[in-house]
Amino acid sequence: MSGRSVTDESLSPARFRQAMGRLVDGVSVLTTVAAGHDHAMTADTLTSVSLEPLLVLVCVEYETRWHDAVIDAGVFGASVLAADQRPLSEWFATRGRPLHGQLDRAPHHRGELTGVALLDGALMHLECRTTDVHAAGDHAIVVAEVLSISLPDTVGPALVHFRGRYGSIA
Ligand SMILES: Cc1cc2nc3c(=O)[nH]c(=O)nc-3n(C[C@H](O)[C@H](O)[C@H](O)COP(=O)(O)O)c2cc1C
Repeated sequence: MSGRSVTDESLSPARFRQAMGRLVDGVSVLTTVAAGHDHAMTADTLTSVSLEPLLVLVCVEYETRWHDAVIDAGVFGASVLAADQRPLSEWFATRGRPLHGQLDRAPHHRGELTGVALLDGALMHLECRTTDVHAAGDHAIVVAEVLSISLPDTVGPALVHFRGRYGSIA
């Protein structure tokens, strides 16, 4: 029995954020192309869902520009960041950055199946096709089939996010 609501101080969004910040997250940059333009966004919600078929999900806030872009495109890329890519994580999480040219500072190549940008130096890349979108509060849960996996040979330390700060793990 719940009987509690977000007006209860112990269930405030700020406290929830604080609690979930104690879960160590890997950091990805999600990419897509809509109306001929690249869109990219930092995300810590890339999650493995299923092996048969291969499925992942990402949780995307409705008010992000990336949300509208991925709904339009139906495909996206995910690049899991290495520790030395922290500046890119910060950049792609900066609200109000210019949309056009935002990938200029991020060396990248194109996924062969989808044409989305995949960041060079990342720990791994996925190309994905959206299969379902579920409404969940102020976010959409985007479920997607994995179309390609790339695993570069060199794997340095990973970028992680913990208690609102960046760190690394080897
Ligand atoms: C470490 C980190 C993880 C994030 N994870 C997500 C996420 O999973 N989903 C999301 O919608 N926003 C996430 N954000 C926030 C977006 O990156 C940020 O709102 C971004 O500016 C949205 O892109 P836009 O400015 O083009 O709308 C995260 C930010 C940081 C710093």
